[in-house]
Amino acid sequence: MKNFMHSIPTRIAFGKGQIKKLKEMARTGKKVLLVYGGGSIKKTGIYDQAMEIMNENKMEVFELSGVEPNPRIESVRKGVDICKSNGIEMVLAIGGGSVIDCAKVIAGGAVYDGDPWDLVINPGKIKGALPIYTVLTLAATGSEMDKFAVISDMNKNEKWGTGSRFFVPALSVCDPEYTYSVSARQTAAGTADMMSHVLENYFTNVQGADLQARFCEGVLKTCIKYGPAAIMEPNNYDARANLMWASSNAINGMLSEGADVAWCVHPMEHELSAFYDITHGEGLAILTPHWMEYVLDEKTVDKFAEYGVNVWDLDKNEDPMTIAKKAIECTKDFFVNDLKIPATLREVGITDEKNFEVMAEKAAAQCANAYVPLGKEDVIAIYKAAL
Ligand code: NZQ
Ligand code: ZN
Repeated sequence: MKNFMHSIPTRIAFGKGQIKKLKEMARTGKKVLLVYGGGSIKKTGIYDQAMEIMNENKMEVFELSGVEPNPRIESVRKGVDICKSNGIEMVLAIGGGSVIDCAKVIAGGAVYDGDPWDLVINPGKIKGALPIYTVLTLAATGSEMDKFAVISDMNKNEKWGTGSRFFVPALSVCDPEYTYSVSARQTAAGTADMMSHVLENYFTNVQGADLQARFCEGVLKTCIKYGPAAIMEPNNYDARANLMWASSNAINGMLSEGADVAWCVHPMEHELSAFYDITHGEGLAILTPHWMEYVLDEKTVDKFAEYGVNVWDLDKNEDPMTIAKKAIECTKDFFVNDLKIPATLREVGITDEKNFEVMAEKAAAQCANAYVPLGKEDVIAIYKAAL
């Protein structure tokens, strides 16, 4: 196991009715920027609940609405302008990962003297941020309990992840009931996303990090059990609660610290979203089995067999390569048949190979230190297999 520094400073208020904890925001100041998306929080009533708490606490609320899925730098810039013109003291994000990510970079941009895109492409420039509060409405990215944010500039076909300790939310309200209204499609994509966060760490070259591996398997099994359950029965509290807590734990460092390795499927997917604006979790679900098939060989077979036995309950007495191949089949079958996510890039609107060269070059630059390092040609081969 490698050395690590463990710190997860976000306070999680988990469970029914926990939105009341937002009254703590009044200790930070009076002026808040409320950031939200296309309006789901108004339909579900979460907007009214949050406003009531902030009004009771005599807070002055400014709003940025309309944050897009795959949030755009233009929305960040609008939010930063509101903060700078009005002396905003904190940011409250109510929504899924897109809204939270946008709010994080707004919080950083509000105390930065320059264009916030600088903070996206150069995390070293993030020297501070306004305090960040979140109310999570979609279990997927784990942004409610991590330091990362992913922002797109669609004019340049660029989507980059950035991160800073200043972006870790101070408090996140995680009420599973708030996810009852999430569509089957977004529930599936969110489940695939959190599973991918786990798999990116589970397949590591670091030896001796057994506890992290067992944590990973626990989170994966939880997603496999409760993803389909939440789709079948959207108001199943335990299904929504398990998914919500899995989303935070998949990426908050507990599973990766001491065993971390560069991620590979995420950089490949971010290029798909940057060029074609597809849903992140769907892209991951399509690419993951093809990545698995591509990197399976004599060197990786034992890890894949361990995955098959411990996650998919395959027979440990079969030979490792047979178990490994069955494990990859189980993964694909789960995404396509249980979660009903499309199996090919073509089905999500990517119908030709014309951008694969440039996308693969950018993705491969981040895959050099991955579990199995991949170059540009490797990434192109995976894209073609997924097409
Ligand atoms: O905009 P509204 O109206 O709120 O609707 C959203 C949106 O259309 C809807 N939704 C959210 N909560 C809902 C709801 N609909 C009904 N009921 C609710 N309770 O769902 C749609 C998708 O929302 P979005 O926030 O885009 O989804 P997600 O949470 O999957 O976030 C995806 C973004 O996060 C990035 C992705 O790349 C993508 O840009 N990621 C962020 C990470 C991080 N910060 O650590 C890591 C991830 O790997 C990922 O890259
Ligand atoms: Zn992800």
